[in-house]
Amino acid sequence: MVEFKVSAPGKVILFGEHAVVYGKTAVAASLALRTNLDFKELPLGTDYISISMPKISLTQQIPLQHIIDFFFGQSSPKSSAGHDEFHKHVQKFVEEIGFISLPQKQALEAFFYLLINISQVESITIKPIHIHLDTALSISSGLGSSASFAVCLATCFYHWSRVQRNVGISLDEAQLREISSYALDCERIMHGTPSGIDNTICTFGSIIEYRKGDLLVPIYGVKIMRVLLVDTRVPRSTKALVESLAQLRSKYPKIFDPVLESIDSVSIEALSIIRRIQELPEAHDELLSEAYNELMTLMKVNQGLLDTCHLSHPSLDAICAEAKNYGLAAKLTGAGGGGYAYILLLPTTPNEVISSLSRKLIANGYLVTLTNLGGSGVEIYS
Ligand code: PMV
Repeated sequence: MVEFKVSAPGKVILFGEHAVVYGKTAVAASLALRTNLDFKELPLGTDYISISMPKISLTQQIPLQHIIDFFFGQSSPKSSAGHDEFHKHVQKFVEEIGFISLPQKQALEAFFYLLINISQVESITIKPIHIHLDTALSISSGLGSSASFAVCLATCFYHWSRVQRNVGISLDEAQLREISSYALDCERIMHGTPSGIDNTICTFGSIIEYRKGDLLVPIYGVKIMRVLLVDTRVPRSTKALVESLAQLRSKYPKIFDPVLESIDSVSIEALSIIRRIQELPEAHDELLSEAYNELMTLMKVNQGLLDTCHLSHPSLDAICAEAKNYGLAAKLTGAGGGGYAYILLLPTTPNEVISSLSRKLIANGYLVTLTNLGGSGVEIYS
């Protein structure tokens, strides 16, 4: 009986959010908070597919025959019919099997979109299976939870198809690109027109330089960075914040175009420092701390530019001020207006400083997670 596990990271935008919407450079990193998937084929005689996703309180058993009749009947649109037509068909199926919340609806659509699409393209024989998915990422908060979820599922079905054909999987660059592209199709269900950055970082891991329309290439072998990820617990709408900057820019193009241009330069400068850190010989402490200091300066500049665009929030400003008290830098990540900030920790930052800063932030009502950036992308364990 086939059984395996898949795990994929979340993501954090380090530099360049919002400016990226206008074709500027952004830098994103994988986050060590991961989504984990357990897959197992069920014994002969079982006649359903079982799904469990505790984070969204979803447990469901769907009769296998219903899936086969609905998606593999003579008149059923195939995934090759195109995204919109196929997605509509998946939506109809999910309406039939039922859900009780929007996250459940989206998760079920993503699940069946990927299962059926990959089984049609990669010729999987659909059998009774159990899939359990859980995540350390908070949902809809800009940490790439939906991409991490889609990458796990895409990898799971892609791997299953290869197991059925008795061919191995190496997760080399070509296979990762296929997985990432399956996940991107699925992301369109949740985000309409996703940029592609989230699925790429959740598949490849590491740190990525990103510009709209360019091929996304990870910087392989970056050195892991430690951060405190701080949740302001202030809800925000990415769409509304992107629109608010669009309005400012259309009213004052001469003011805001140069700001966006500056953010582009910050991202480009940051990338060159990240590459420099990657190439530093071990134990070159002085050069390393110089590079980290430069990164901290760029974080403060980027935060200031985002604030100029009215994208910060009093809670984000307070987190930046607290980090500064400890000689560190913080910056909002993602859409801003609340959501998350990250505080870059130096390789030499003592544990007592990390504990003291965390305690202060927690006392002020924030949620704090000590975690790493730039680690591995999707992984499969037998
Ligand atoms: O909401 P998030 O954290 O996924 O980030 C949005 C990033 C923006 O640059 C503001 C929008 C975008 O589509 O790139």
